[in-house]
Amino acid sequence: MSNASQQGSGSQQGADDFDVVIIGGGPGGYGAALYGASAGLRIAMVEKEKVGGTCLHRGCIPAKELLETAHVHQTVLGAGTFGITTDAPEVDWSVTQSRKQKVVDQLHKGLSGLIKQRKIETVAGTGRLESDHSVTVELSDGGTRTLKGDAVILATGSVPRTIPGFEPDGSVVCTSDEFLELANLPRRAVVIGGGAIGCEFASTLADMGADVTILEALPKILPGLDEDVAKQVLRAFKKKKIDVRAGVKVTGHEPDGSGATTVSFGDGETIETDLVVVSVGRRPYTDSLVDDGAGVDLDDRGFVTVDELCRTSADGVWSIGDCIATPQLAHVGFAEGICAIGDILGEHPVPVDYHAVPWAIYCKPEVAFAGYSEEAAKEAGFDVVVSSSRYMGNSRAQIIGETDGLVKIIAEDQGDGTGGRVLGVHMVGPWVTEQLGQGYLAVNWEATVDEIAHYLQPHPSLSELFGETVMTLTGRSLHG
Ligand code: NAI
Repeated sequence: MSNASQQGSGSQQGADDFDVVIIGGGPGGYGAALYGASAGLRIAMVEKEKVGGTCLHRGCIPAKELLETAHVHQTVLGAGTFGITTDAPEVDWSVTQSRKQKVVDQLHKGLSGLIKQRKIETVAGTGRLESDHSVTVELSDGGTRTLKGDAVILATGSVPRTIPGFEPDGSVVCTSDEFLELANLPRRAVVIGGGAIGCEFASTLADMGADVTILEALPKILPGLDEDVAKQVLRAFKKKKIDVRAGVKVTGHEPDGSGATTVSFGDGETIETDLVVVSVGRRPYTDSLVDDGAGVDLDDRGFVTVDELCRTSADGVWSIGDCIATPQLAHVGFAEGICAIGDILGEHPVPVDYHAVPWAIYCKPEVAFAGYSEEAAKEAGFDVVVSSSRYMGNSRAQIIGETDGLVKIIAEDQGDGTGGRVLGVHMVGPWVTEQLGQGYLAVNWEATVDEIAHYLQPHPSLSELFGETVMTLTGRSLHG
């Protein structure tokens, strides 16, 4: 018997009764819905806008499409080194925007079709959890409907945080929501916050030809990255002429009335810009999500509190994705959805291991990692051996003309200076977000250096660098 039916309303279901009611149709919610429906559960999913959520409509997908356009711009600019000459390339922003939208629309159409095909009932409106697993929906086309689930999953995601004095104003100040819909490419931009979103937007704008400044409050951008990887990003950003100002506080801005503004920061410094992008984190979107009688606890930042299986404080209610305090990544939302459905089915799922999830940051150069950084492994008490290899020595990297970056692997020291279990894999360079897969598996499968070094990598390929770096940790090597 499933956990849901142990706690739920029984097997005779009416039109408003479901095995699972999910509030929120982003990656967490729709992932749980698709996975649950594939296991035979009858599912309703409440969504107030479009299925796909932030990731598909205002996040990952449009942001990466724009990054790709910026990369194409740089490729064309550098085509002369391959003997291919072109006129000076120009960015036609309206075409750029419509291509991005086409990709989003195509994916939305595919997802909507899949949801229908799995017989998941999508209810258009805003859902609120009351007591006894009742979800009241303010329907988008008027009226209300009450759904009842044997189990309920809260998956309402997150929204951009703003800072006082820098609220989005529809012209010069924006968050990621508005940035992805910009009508014009700015000539100058100030990005406040040097986290994943800030660095991706800064990279996009700089590679499109804008003058970009990042203002970061902490002493360095991308805090939490392995030190050697962070240095590579910083060096590449300098090459692109991104002005990185870390350890500074912004104090306000003064629009000039003609489309520009002057941002004040640090010790009385100012900078004039055409666009301010605020990327200082995202807060959980749990406003009015649960009634007091529902018994679901939120923490003081508004995150739904959950245990390791994503169970909330209320029996039969789970919460997943950006509205719980775990890494705000779409693929973490998918994993949590799978975990929650497994628990609802009584299958004793393995909890998500948050310390070893794959991270992928799509600025140029790309960053990808899983597991401990060198500093974190040492802090956790491991004796480690470390090996780094640079793309400069990799044949495929030279062929494609992108030789900046490295692969760094951290393994447990076997006592003789050779590596045992792989603890962390950190990459920066060309297409590393596509190369992390085997590093992620190595860390999570608790593979040893000797086991991995036995296997072949295609030649010539960028992924050879991973294989060579692992082999170096055995004490022997080919090119490394
Ligand atoms: P973040 O929390 O990763 O970074 C925000 C940055 O802003 C921090 O470095 C913080 O120190 C800085 N900051 C905060 N207040 C500031 C202020 N007043 N002035 C200057 N700097 C300030 O948040 P971000 O980049 O907005 O991303 C939100 C979430 O989405 C994160 O969890 C992120 O990991 C995730 N995400 C991940 C992506 C990826 O992995 N490719 C892409 C996009 C988002």
